This record gives sequence, structure tokens and C-alpha cells, in this order.
Amino acid sequence: MYSISVLTLVLCGEMIMGSCDVKLEGSLLKDLVKMLIKKDSDKVCALFNRKTIPAFSAALNKSLSLSTNEIIKFDIVFINNLNGYNPSTGIFTAPIAGVYQFSSIVMKDRGKPLVVSLWHNNTRVSSVSMKVSDHTTGTLSVILDLQKGDQIAVKSYYNYTVYSNAMNYNTFSGNLIAQ
Ligand SMILES: *[C@@H]1O[C@H](CO)[C@@H](O)[C@H](O)[C@H]1NC(C)=O
Ligand SMILES: *[C@@H]1O[C@H](CO)[C@@H](O)[C@H](O)[C@H]1NC(C)=O
Ligand SMILES: *[C@@H]1O[C@H](CO)[C@@H](O)[C@H](O)[C@H]1NC(C)=O
Repeated sequence: MYSISVLTLVLCGEMIMGSCDVKLEGSLLKDLVKMLIKKDSDKVCALFNRKTIPAFSAALNKSLSLSTNEIIKFDIVFINNLNGYNPSTGIFTAPIAGVYQFSSIVMKDRGKPLVVSLWHNNTRVSSVSMKVSDHTTGTLSVILDLQKGDQIAVKSYYNYTVYSNAMNYNTFSGNLIAQ
């Protein structure tokens, strides 16, 4: 048991550090270990493969006036692996089921309050409220268990304004962390 764990760690290390083509030739023990961890290693490889892991990150470079429950459309896309995020709607749709982490940073305008929420389908998951007079940012950060097709978006609680410019003060990001 101990030796298998150590070998699994070594193999996972190889897969994380380098490619997923684990080189295991010539040893009966290695063949056995390879068989034992084959199923998990496929998953580990998928999770650490930049082409197969859902991950998105987008920013907003202009201010927006929003109405109640309007989705904030972060339209400057940095990364969108598997195209789960749609910048023209602001909605992330889970391409595969799994545990995802999401974060969003939003900035309020001077003299105007801002309250936004992160929604999972029709459920408000978490909110942040900014009522100081100057510009300030608020942060949302959650980890959610999603089914394929579930939708995540950041919405304004009321008729509020988010403030931004070319500094990209507002971002929305998410990625799969476990299948
Ligand atoms: C909020 O926005 C909606 C849609 O833009 C508008 O019809 C409504 O009058 C606004 N309400 C207030 C209190 O500004
Ligand atoms: C969330 O909404 C999507 C799109 O309407 C739907 O396919 C999915 O089944 C919903 N998930 C849950 C958990 O209600
Ligand atoms: C925001 O990004 C768009 C697209 O890249 C660009 O055309 C526009 O000039 C940018 N606006 C600001 C304020 O930086």
C-alpha cells in the first residue's frame, strides 16, 4: 500500500510537471501500478490539461448602468477553455459536471452604492454590498458543485452602476477544480 502510494505520487508529479505521457517501460511492478492507477490518472491528466479543463476569466473595461437583476457582461476575455463563458450574455455554462471555483471583483462608482450577487441558475448564492462614498471594490468567491449545463452569472441587485475603464477593475473568473 505504502509503495503504491509513493509511486502514485511520483506518477502524479510527473503528470503535473510534464506531459501526461508517463514513461513506464520494462518493469512488471510499474506495469502493475500503471494498471492500478490508470482510471485515476486519466482524470488527473484531464484536470491538468490546458485543453480539457474548463477555465475562463474576463474583465470589464467600461462603466455600465444596470437595472435590477441585469447580468454584468464582462466582455474582455482573457481565457475561455472549452468556451463555457459567453461574453455577449455574461453567463458561464458548465461544459462538464464537477466542482468549480468562481470569483468576481466589481468596482462601484463615486457617490453611488453597488450591490451584486453571484447566481447559480435561479439561486442567489452570494452577494457583496458597497456603500462607502468613494470608489471601492467588492469580491465574490465561491466553490460550487455543478451539473453539466448549470449557469453562473453575476447580477446587479438593483439599478446600479459598475465603474471601470481601461484599468479593467472588474473581473469574473471560474475553473473546474475536481471532477
Ligand atoms: C430601474 O431601471 C428600469 C429599467 O432600466 C427602469 O424602468 C426603472 O424606472 C428604474 N428604476 C429606478 C428607481 O430608477
Ligand atoms: C440550470 O439551468 C440549466 C439551463 O436552464 C438547466 O439545463 C439545468 O438543469 C439547471 N440545473 C439545475 C440544478 O436546476
Ligand atoms: C475596451 O476594450 C475594447 C475591446 O478591446 C476596446 O475597443 C476599447 O477601446 C476599450 N475601452 C477602454 C476604455 O479601454
